[in-house]
Amino acid sequence: MVRETELSPSDFIYPIFVVEGRSVRHPIPSMPGIFNLSVDQAVEEARLVKNAGIPAIILFGIPGAKDARGSGAYDNAGVVPRAIRAIKELFPDLQIVADVCLCEYTDHGHCGVIQAQEVQNDATLPILAQAAVAYARAGADIIAPSDMMDGRIGAIRKALDEARFESLPIMSYAAKYASGFYGPFREAAQSTPQFGDRRGYQMDPANVREALKEVAQDLEEGADIVMVKPAMAYLDVIRRVKTQVNVPVAAYNVSGEYSMVKAAAQNGWIDYDRVMMEILTGIKRAGADLILTYHALDAVKLL
Ligand code: PBG
Repeated sequence: MVRETELSPSDFIYPIFVVEGRSVRHPIPSMPGIFNLSVDQAVEEARLVKNAGIPAIILFGIPGAKDARGSGAYDNAGVVPRAIRAIKELFPDLQIVADVCLCEYTDHGHCGVIQAQEVQNDATLPILAQAAVAYARAGADIIAPSDMMDGRIGAIRKALDEARFESLPIMSYAAKYASGFYGPFREAAQSTPQFGDRRGYQMDPANVREALKEVAQDLEEGADIVMVKPAMAYLDVIRRVKTQVNVPVAAYNVSGEYSMVKAAAQNGWIDYDRVMMEILTGIKRAGADLILTYHALDAVKLL
């Protein structure tokens, strides 16, 4: 009766990794319980999510072939557009968030195109915009750019509007830190940078004013939902963003955060259910309206 923070299945967005092939259900070693799924299997996973009362999934694509430009990202016949169409046909009410980034699609693993070993911010924008439009055409409900190039929200908004998707919302990865917690994701998406790192475009973990600036800039350019990522080491950032904006705030409880809890639980060092719920409650208490989490299916069983 006096509890201040209540978790609900409707808080969650569940990530799904889509790969080429049929009947593929390939376990990701560093993320127990999470798989690389071919489109037909992603549909089955979407069914579980829907039946659990979780309103949304976010899709990441791992293409059959990667190239320097990440052209697979805007292929209308790529794994993500195909997965969107297949899932939408069966579960029209399930909200599909399409992650927009090049790192899963480039052979060098960076989130933008490269020249002289440097990510080219402005040359990357039209490619991201083209990818967003491809996912919109396939039927995505929310576009979520995770690349952290400057100006990409404005570029994507403009391209969506020109393609007659004026009312399609953008969830911006607004405050995305250069974090060691993405390690397992990069194994899942085979997107570890082949040289250098992402510190040129992702944020310094020591900064919070900069996060507020990035958020304000994305809102100015047309973001409808803003995200803080990762979540657990950034609860103060979630709180600060929450008090500053009047749009929904999302927090991404990322792969490394999930893997640590799974690994400790498998060793019998912590109680998985209890620690998971404590973490998710903490993220919500900090101010997150939406939580992207690999725990979603486990968590709803306890609600
Ligand atoms: C980039 C992207 C990443 C994640 C989501 N989108 C990885 C990165 O920036 O290297 C990480 C999510 C996670 O760790 O769970 N497209």
